[in-house]
Amino acid sequence: LDAAGADPIQVARAAADDIRRITGVDRHDIALTLGSGWAKAADLVGETTHTIDPTEVTGFSKPALEGHSGTIRSVLLADGRRALVIGARTHYYEGHGVRRVVHSVRTAAQTGASIMVLTNGAGGIRETWTPGQPVLISDHINLTADSPLEGATFVDLTDLYSSRLRDVARSVDASLDEGVYCQFRGPHYETPAEVQMAKAIGGHIVGMSTALEAIAAREAGMEVLGFSLVTNLAAGIQQTPLSHEEVIEAGRTAEPVISRLLADVVAAIGRA
Ligand code: 6GU
Repeated sequence: LDAAGADPIQVARAAADDIRRITGVDRHDIALTLGSGWAKAADLVGETTHTIDPTEVTGFSKPALEGHSGTIRSVLLADGRRALVIGARTHYYEGHGVRRVVHSVRTAAQTGASIMVLTNGAGGIRETWTPGQPVLISDHINLTADSPLEGATFVDLTDLYSSRLRDVARSVDASLDEGVYCQFRGPHYETPAEVQMAKAIGGHIVGMSTALEAIAAREAGMEVLGFSLVTNLAAGIQQTPLSHEEVIEAGRTAEPVISRLLADVVAAIGRA
């Protein structure tokens, strides 16, 4: 993937071929990336028929982050659709470049998936939100100053987070709030001043993933649905210092509820 002259789409095609070979599954219909707090959804969306070690798939590397399951699963849904469940996210802050970050999304597209569901744990800017709350992503602000697109690829990002799929999500839980996700590079959390900037420019949730992946999904022609779990309020919004442990703990507590929600939304997408 990093080699000079490598075409990231060709590498994704090779990865999708690996997945087909390992699973014997010809085509996946929908893909999910499970961020911190969302991992249990893998068990609830359907029956896992294959669990793949990402190191067996071209271009994937081993994730070491707590709160991420690290495997790729092929899941048979009750209605016969196939889900590719990705628990192995590469973050931009790892410094391996944006190609690695979006490789799983491009691979999902090459397996045939037309819908990409991106989930994450994030900091909330709205004071009324509480840790453990899921929020629908309505749009994003990409503050990484990077893009997964290379060359003169002018991709439209209107309605990137599909209003059709957000309507489906709200048909499952009418109380779902939505907000604009700001992707920062990380891995440090934002300063209170940066959080105020994010708020001033229209952001509601701050995190370290998702926006670059959503852009790659749109380039690949996929429909995108995004969810954040508010694991904590952002710096300066909550008065106590932020910690990774707090993020993991909020994820653990909320996991059964939001995973159920996500599984129900995936089922509802099949009926929509
Ligand atoms: Cl407050 N910021 C960022 N960038 N990522 C987070 C977070 C905050 N809380 C959880 N993940």
